[in-house]
Amino acid sequence: MSDSFYFRQLLAGRDFAVGNDIARQMLNFAYAIGDRETGEAILVDPSYHPTELVEIVEADGLKVVGVIATHFHADHIGGDLMGYEIPGIAELLQHRNVPIHVQTTEVAWVTKGTGVEAVNLVQHESHDILKVGKYEIEFIHTPGHTPGSQCMLVNNCLISGDTLFVDGCGRTDFPYSQPEEMYISLNERLAGIKDEVVLYPGHLYSAERHSPMGEVRKNNFVLAPVSKEQWLAMFAR
Ligand SMILES: [Fe+2]
Repeated sequence: MSDSFYFRQLLAGRDFAVGNDIARQMLNFAYAIGDRETGEAILVDPSYHPTELVEIVEADGLKVVGVIATHFHADHIGGDLMGYEIPGIAELLQHRNVPIHVQTTEVAWVTKGTGVEAVNLVQHESHDILKVGKYEIEFIHTPGHTPGSQCMLVNNCLISGDTLFVDGCGRTDFPYSQPEEMYISLNERLAGIKDEVVLYPGHLYSAERHSPMGEVRKNNFVLAPVSKEQWLAMFAR
């Protein structure tokens, strides 16, 4: 089944949007998931230079048929980032009229942050499946960093946005963050992910660009505390 699986991890400021100083500081990953046999691909978190991401996928011989947002933050899907306007899904939609897949809870934040209207968004609940070619992408709602953060599991790859990094996890000190939900996301909602599944995070905050979940479980300090109370005492800000 893995023969025609297409998967690319692209670091903003290095692999695309080269020379963009904000991208080089923020260290965001975008992803492309596809099926080489059907030629369909989905982009995850296209920001900084979304049309270049479309070109990269097309140069590989596939067509972008949709976009997934892990969460609404501007460094992932465009919008205002500390006074800088980051291109993202709004710019992409001007070039390719494709559906933007978001977690239901995130819809209002995405429309507010990007100006993209709700009619362009496809809402998903946890465990919904989106097919790209013959590959099934499962959405896992993982609130905490933002209320509608979601991870995606496809072909033994877990794309985790800002929920879980190879080292550490996403911030939970925003006004809308939910530290207790983050604990539950990390320790319960992602508990069923097998050790051999490879974690592909939303940022390069570690030496490794990706890591098997078994290694992440051994080495990541945010997965070490044994109780919710202990976790909150250490990480809730
Ligand atoms: Fe974020």
